[in-house]
Amino acid sequence: MRLAALVRARRIACCAAVALAGGIAGCGSPPKTSSCPQDFPSGCPSPPPSWKAEVQPIINDRCVPCHSPTGVESVLNYTSYQGVFVRYPEMRDQLYQCVMPPSTAAQPTEAERETLLTWFVCGAPNN
Ligand code: HEC
Repeated sequence: MRLAALVRARRIACCAAVALAGGIAGCGSPPKTSSCPQDFPSGCPSPPPSWKAEVQPIINDRCVPCHSPTGVESVLNYTSYQGVFVRYPEMRDQLYQCVMPPSTAAQPTEAERETLLTWFVCGAPNN
């Protein structure tokens, strides 16, 4: 009982230290240590990225393999504009925080990430 509490306290202290030191791996289940870029777009350019020409092909490559009726996460179906639009704030956050795509899956390139985030910031237009 006491020991467990102590171990827990140590673990928290250790992780706090690690976080302060800049996030080196350690401490049981480590915090996300991948260098997730802080690249949230500052605004929406004119014209915004095009859903049809730019955004949909990236989503098809990077998300739809899992997020489709035949994928592992079929509840979230990103195969249509509607399917994406109703979920885009969630998608934006998961992408920005480097939670999605999962680290085990192919990652978007820097340019792809920028296009998606910018389009989300623009309000996910059907253009
Ligand atoms: C390798 C398969 C895979 C790929 C690729 C993938 N996802 Fe996911 N996604 C999942 C699974 C499985 C879940 C449900 C479990 C979870 O949250 O980890 C999920 C959940 C989500 C959720 C809901 C999270 C929540 O907390 O409710 C969002 C939003 C999401 N994915 C967005 C995306 C976006 C955007 C992409 C592409 C940039 C993407 N995913 C690519 C497998 C994938």
